[in-house]
Amino acid sequence: MAEPIKLGIIGAGLAVKQLHWPALQRLRANYTFVAVADVDQHKAQEIATLTGAERVYTDYRELLALSAVEAVLLALPIHLTAPITLDAARAGKHVLLEKPPGANLEQARQLKEQLATLPITTLVAENFRYRPNLQQARRILSEGGLGELILLKLHSVSRANTDDPENFAGTPWRHDTQYRGGPILDGGVHHAAALRLLGGEVEWLQAFTKYGGSKLGGTTTITMNLRFRSGALGTYVYSAVCHDEQSSFLGLTLYGSAATLLVDNDALRLSRPGQAPETIPVEADPGYYGEFLNFYQALREGAPVVSTVEQSYRDMELILRGLDSAEQAQVILL
Ligand SMILES: NC(=O)c1ccc[n+]([C@@H]2O[C@H](COP(=O)([O-])OP(=O)(O)OC[C@H]3O[C@@H](n4cnc5c(N)ncnc54)[C@H](O)[C@@H]3O)[C@@H](O)[C@H]2O)c1
Repeated sequence: MAEPIKLGIIGAGLAVKQLHWPALQRLRANYTFVAVADVDQHKAQEIATLTGAERVYTDYRELLALSAVEAVLLALPIHLTAPITLDAARAGKHVLLEKPPGANLEQARQLKEQLATLPITTLVAENFRYRPNLQQARRILSEGGLGELILLKLHSVSRANTDDPENFAGTPWRHDTQYRGGPILDGGVHHAAALRLLGGEVEWLQAFTKYGGSKLGGTTTITMNLRFRSGALGTYVYSAVCHDEQSSFLGLTLYGSAATLLVDNDALRLSRPGQAPETIPVEADPGYYGEFLNFYQALREGAPVVSTVEQSYRDMELILRGLDSAEQAQVILL
C-alpha cells in the first residue's frame, strides 16, 4: 500500500471532532496527522491529542510552512474558507476543504479559477456526494426503475438548537454571519447537492425567503420551485427555525412515471400503484468516510475527485440564486 497522506488540520472545531475524526479512524492506514492549527489553542490541542499530531499552532501559516505537511483539512467558519484555501494551495498543499467554497458566489468563483491554475488537488467535503442512500437512489433512477422522473420533493424542516455550544447551530460565527444566506447556505448546499445528483442540472428556479426567528444570522427559511433541464420539476423547502416532529434533514421523495422512491438514511422505499411497497436497505453512512477515501485515492492512485470545487460551486449557485430570486421577485434562468 502507498504511503499514508501526511495531513495538517486547520480549524479544530465541531466538524473535525464529531464528523471527520470518526471517519478518519477507519482510515488509519491512509492518513497520519502532522499538525493542528486553531486560533483557540485548547481546541487545537484537543484534536492533536485525538489524532496523535505532535505540533499545535494558533497561526495556521506556521502549519503551512511545514514541509512535512503534504495536505490540509480545512474546517473553518465559512467566511475564512476561501482565503485560507488559497493560502494553503499557494503553499503547495493539497486541500480538502469544508463546504461551501466561499462566503458568496463571486468569492467562490474566484477561488475556483485561482485553484485551477495551481498544481494541487482539491476536494470539497460535500459528504452528500458520498452517501450510500443517494448513490443507490441514483442507480435506481439511471436503470429506469422509476420510469421518467417527473417530480423531486425535498422538504427539510427542523428547529436548530442555537443555545448549545456543542451543537453546530450554537457556534458564534453562525449567529454573526459574515457570509451570504446564513443557515440556508450552510445547510442548503447539502440539499442542492442531493437535488443535482438525482435531478441533474436546474434550468429555472423561483423562491421566497424569510429571515429571523432564531439567533442564526441570514435567511432562515426558503421555499423554492425548480425546473430541471430534463423537464422534471422540483419543490424544495428548508427551514432552520420551525419544529417538525416528522421531518429529517434530508426529507426526499422522487416521483417517476412508474414508481415513487422515498429516500431514508438507512433504506429506500419503492412503491408502485397496486403493489406492496418494497424496502431496499442501504448502509446508514453519512458519507465522510467516502470523502476521505476519495481524497486519498485521488492523491495516491490518481482517481478522479468526485466532489470537486466546480460541483460545490454549482450547489452554492443553486441556493444563492434562490436568494436572488426572492430578493428580486423574479424567476431565474441558471
Ligand atoms: N459536511 C458537514 O456535514 C458539515 C457539518 C458541520 C460543519 N461543516 C463545515 O465545517 C466548517 C466548520 O464548521 P464547524 O461546525 O466545525 O465550526 P466550529 O466553529 O466548531 O469550528 C471552526 C474552528 O475554526 C477555528 N478558527 C476560527 N478562525 C480561525 C483561524 N483564522 N485559523 C484557524 N482556526 C480558526 C475556530 O476556533 C473553531 O475551532 C464549516 O465550513 C461548515 O460549513 C460541515
